[in-house]
Parts: sequence; structure tokens; C-alpha cells
Amino acid sequence: MELLPLLCLCLLTRSGITSAQQNRPAVIKVKGGTDVVLPCSLSTKENIEFKLFDWRKVAQKDDGQKKVFLYDGGSHYNNGLDGQSEEFKGRVSHFQDELKHGNASIIIRNTKVTDSGDYRCYFPHLQLPQTFTIKLVVGAASKPSVTLLDVTTFWALLQCEVNGNPKPKVELQDSDGNNLHAEVTQDSEREGSFYITLQTTVTKTGTYRCVATQEELKHQIHAETSVYISGEILPL
Ligand SMILES: *[C@@H]1O[C@H](CO)[C@@H](O)[C@H](O)[C@H]1NC(C)=O
Repeated sequence: MELLPLLCLCLLTRSGITSAQQNRPAVIKVKGGTDVVLPCSLSTKENIEFKLFDWRKVAQKDDGQKKVFLYDGGSHYNNGLDGQSEEFKGRVSHFQDELKHGNASIIIRNTKVTDSGDYRCYFPHLQLPQTFTIKLVVGAASKPSVTLLDVTTFWALLQCEVNGNPKPKVELQDSDGNNLHAEVTQDSEREGSFYITLQTTVTKTGTYRCVATQEELKHQIHAETSVYISGEILPL
């Protein structure tokens, strides 16, 4: 009678999860057009070469659930298995050499903004079936690039460049966090990414910050630079 709970506990521990927690998915943010590895590993590191794992993209609003990658004991979408969703064809691979270590991670190449969403890696046939969830965000702006284009005794010309998709809101701020009036010198779209450049002239020594925000992705990132104005007119 006392054996049963013990056995259950043992099973639970044996099939523990490493890469992602069930309720709070790991978030991966990448720029559009890059490749991304979605992690999924069994903590038991058991060999899964002869097992089945299924990667799906959870349905967003109206589009249904998408079939991203299926591996079934050696057969998979890249060697003849049918059923992969059109948009993932030719872009997704597993890591064959990693399977013997319980690693079912996949790589998605040339990511698009529409790849953003929740992905599930599912092992339906384990003693305790397991699901891992990863949230992928494609198009997140990378760290802005802040440069000093010109520095004189009395002023400096500051530039900030950002790209991302959806279009980031870009702001230049002084050390007190006040938004500075800046000129937009570039606002263009290329290969699915928006490129924004701001310039402003500053006349005070200090630390300046460029902030890029993508509300839709709940993503904000900033970069700072220090400016020294030797001839700054200081208040008396
Ligand atoms: C699984 O394999 C991928 C691809 O080689 C690798 O990036 C990742 O670190 C591996 N995960 C673990 C837990 O070893």
C-alpha cells in the first residue's frame, strides 16, 4: 500500500522538465530574418531516437494550430512524413545527434514576424506525457546604436538607429528622462524590418539615452552614451 505514492514520486522525478516551465513559458526574442533554436529537452536525458515528439504552434486568434515539426522514431517532416503546415516547410530541422541525449530542440530558419507565438513541444508516449512551451517573439528591436556624429565646443550631434518589426517607437532622452525634440532622418522598411534614425543636437554634458519600444511585443530596449561639452555654459 505504501509503495504506490513512492512509485508515483519516482516517476515524477524521472520525467522532470528542464527547458521550460509549464505555466510560465520561456520567452525567446529574435530579429526577423535570423535563425532561432527552440529548446526542448528531457531532464532525464533519455534517448529519444526511437520516440515521438511533436512541435506545434498554438492557434492565434482565427488561424488554427500549426504543425511545425513531427519526429516519429526516425521518420520526420524532412524525410517524407506528411502533414507539416505550409509556412514551415523547408525551414525547420531537428538535431539528429542530440536525440540520444533527450534533446528535441528544433531550429527555425529565416524567421518572420508571423512566426511569433507560443510553441509546444509534446512527448505523448512517455510514461508521463510531457509538454514544453516556448514563446517566440520575432522582430524585437535589438539594442539601439547611439553615435556622436559631430562634437564641437558648444554642442554635439547625437544619432540613434533602431530596427525592428512591428515599427518601434524611438525616443531620445536626457539624463532626467525628458524626451528631447529629435529629427527623424530615416523611416524606411526593408526586408520586413522598419529602420528608424533620429538625430538631435545637445548642448549640455550628460548621459543621453535612446529608447525603442514595441508595445505589441511588450518589448523595450535602450542604449546610452555620454557626451562632454567642453564649452558648456553652466548656470551660475
Ligand atoms: C540541444 O541541442 C541544441 C542544438 O545543438 C543546443 O543548442 C542545446 O543547447 C541543446 N540543449 C541541451 C539541454 O543540451
